[in-house]
Amino acid sequence: MKKLAVFASGNGGNLQSILEAARDKIIDAQVVLVVCDNPNAYCIKRAKNFNIECLVFNPQDFTSKKLLEDYILNKIEPLNLDYICLAGYMRILSKRFVHKYQDKIINIHPSLLPSFKGAHGIYDAFQYGVKIMGVTIHYVDEEIDHGKIIAQECFHVQDDDTLETVEEKIHDIEHPLYVKVLKMLCNKGE
Ligand code: GAR
Repeated sequence: MKKLAVFASGNGGNLQSILEAARDKIIDAQVVLVVCDNPNAYCIKRAKNFNIECLVFNPQDFTSKKLLEDYILNKIEPLNLDYICLAGYMRILSKRFVHKYQDKIINIHPSLLPSFKGAHGIYDAFQYGVKIMGVTIHYVDEEIDHGKIIAQECFHVQDDDTLETVEEKIHDIEHPLYVKVLKMLCNKGE
């Protein structure tokens, strides 16, 4: 069984679907830790509902990115993680961190990369007026929202779509896609 940590900053919709998939044995994996950089985030409650340990911190309590990441690294290093799943974790990992977990960090991004990188992928794509929107799951490398693509899924934007409806469509795609990717990575031999 693979060991996962999920990093999240906000609502935790993707975290929820990963937790459910692990609980229901759809993925041959155990979420051993949730890491959250926002003490007020709803994802903490989701982790607690599943009795998953949560490492919560306030980034302002650290005087440097190195110290903040050391705090996380010290916690995760003994866990022998197979994968770190970034699920709406709105913090850029340093090169040092990424190198330590080379090919083990996966991110979900709400656009068809390499278009619309950054923190507002859905808004930016919708404002641009693209007619096809979608989601990317990729390995994390040193660059932002960059790395080998594992999976993408898309949909056609309809004339009557609004920012709210495309957001909903993106989230509806994201959750099963993350589970599908983790199934592919964790359930070897299926
Ligand atoms: C998701 O849409 C995810 O793709 C996005 O944040 C949202 C988190 O939602 N991530 C990024 O924009 C990363 N650049 P969630 O907390 O409900 O899973």
